[in-house]
Amino acid sequence: MKTIGRVCALLPALFLATSLPAFPQQLGASSTQNAAGPAWWKNAVICEIYPRSFQDSNGDGVGDLNGITSRLDYLQKLGVNAIWLTPIYPSPQVDFGYDISDYEAIDPQYGTMADFDRLVAEAQKRGIRIIMDLVLNHTSDQDPWFKESASSRTNPKADWYMWRDPKMVNGQREPPNNWISGFGGSAWQWDPARRQYYYHRFYVQQPDLNWNNPQVRQAMYDVERFWIRKGVAGFRLDAITALFEDPQDRNEPYVLGPDGKPRINAYGDKEVTSIYTDNLPEVHDVLRQLRQVADETGSGNTVLIGETYLNSIADLRKMYGANNDELQLPMDMQVGFINKFDVPLFRRRINEAETELNGDQPLFVFDNHDNPRWDRYQLSADGTPQYGYGPHHDGIGRVIATVLFASRDTALMYYGDAIGMVTTPPARKEDVRDPIGIRGWPKEKGRDGERTPMQWNAGPDAGFSSSGVKTWLPIPPSYTTYNVAAEEPSQDSMLHWYQQLIALKKGDPALHDGAEIMLNTSDNRVLSWLRKGPDGESVVVACNFTDQPQTISFNLSAQGVQGTRMKTLMITPGAAEPQSLHSIQLGPYGVYIGEVR
Ligand code: GLC
Repeated sequence: MKTIGRVCALLPALFLATSLPAFPQQLGASSTQNAAGPAWWKNAVICEIYPRSFQDSNGDGVGDLNGITSRLDYLQKLGVNAIWLTPIYPSPQVDFGYDISDYEAIDPQYGTMADFDRLVAEAQKRGIRIIMDLVLNHTSDQDPWFKESASSRTNPKADWYMWRDPKMVNGQREPPNNWISGFGGSAWQWDPARRQYYYHRFYVQQPDLNWNNPQVRQAMYDVERFWIRKGVAGFRLDAITALFEDPQDRNEPYVLGPDGKPRINAYGDKEVTSIYTDNLPEVHDVLRQLRQVADETGSGNTVLIGETYLNSIADLRKMYGANNDELQLPMDMQVGFINKFDVPLFRRRINEAETELNGDQPLFVFDNHDNPRWDRYQLSADGTPQYGYGPHHDGIGRVIATVLFASRDTALMYYGDAIGMVTTPPARKEDVRDPIGIRGWPKEKGRDGERTPMQWNAGPDAGFSSSGVKTWLPIPPSYTTYNVAAEEPSQDSMLHWYQQLIALKKGDPALHDGAEIMLNTSDNRVLSWLRKGPDGESVVVACNFTDQPQTISFNLSAQGVQGTRMKTLMITPGAAEPQSLHSIQLGPYGVYIGEVR
């Protein structure tokens, strides 16, 4: 099957301070039913916003902070507790903000610091917290830190980045080893001034910091303090597993294809593993320090979320820390990125998150600004994803949303998911904006397809920008039918499904934080589970993972549930409500959520 998740391109081995404003207790009805209080992030709903693409307020075709502020009412109505903003700091925008040149300011194209303060304050009024993206692995090559570091071998920041002497082979200069950049080519760039190479895990313009240097650590912990004092509620730690590399610079083993030769990736490079360049044990020391700074500065209210593409539940568990002193929410990519409707695999992975994380909180996620949207789950017979609106688009979307919001987890959704936006990759190379798409075309078309402007209405520019302006990425044609204004009044819309699910996650005691127990564990077509609340409240959830109708039945005596009558909480629009646990009919990709009476 074709590789779908672009996770592989990024990680080749894988497949309060007193000044912090008090947060209002307005998020819900009671402390168990809402996301207020110290562990506000537990069972919360977080929405990732890609600021370039959410709302343009000044008519330049690029989204901005005032645009986000103007759309907070929509987010509040949807029920989100927090928004994660991808980077809004000053940046040359080579990697659209993931190349930061000043960590304590706002990029003028997104607004001013006053606009940011207003966003935080207005969000707070609506019970929404702000989570910043913190890029610790690398800076921009235009960051004054790097400029100073590159200026000589003796300046005060000479050791802030990963500088290495060349390897001389037959009198020829070569990079120190075979490490490759996740974005194509060698990970080493020759710098003529220092006459040395520097390491870049991502683009050439994103030099990696040297995390063995205590001054680098202190500088970044100061950045963390700065934003907590400005009122942010947490950080999403970018590429956090990539902070350290093998101190001996050993060559990575090649990943071999069926012919025994190294596999060649979309950029034409020989693929290597990442055993010497990713998830090294040293990262845990830094995570503990980051957490300590967060806890001290944020009085225990600051959440640390990790971008953690990891292979196993054991590796994920380590990210919480042996004493719960590292990340509160490392992203679980093992459920959402299965990328096909495989009931046993979903069951196993969800169950692992429930039973093998020492009771810690899982964070599920299905898509983001680096990977195709959930329409990738529409597969053709040969397993290739069919982006766009297939015959089962809405059904598939409802199934995915149900797994995300009706599980015992913190739910991370991406802007546009709630209205059923689809991946819209560029059709021509000359339209590509993401440099990895330009370099990898046509095998790798880049990430533009999942970053298109938000579809607010069927008017000009989908309501994203002012009429007539060229938006930074084109608006997908689907905006005329899939948009907020069209979906809000409709009971059958994707948006209505999301709103209902989120309201249940926040308001229903079993769905909020009840234990999750897999049901009918030999069924390969329907994924079902029980949520059991603190006082025995029992809710069953059933998702048909196939395009054929299915009939299921539950016997919950082993789970200590007595009743057999059902009260429907949610059901696919148009389906008949079952009366009993003994016969529940599900249409293609049908969903049923019911309380057992
Ligand atoms: C993370 C970001 C991605 C970025 C990369 C380099 O994977 O999510 O968008 O390109 O880090 O910073």
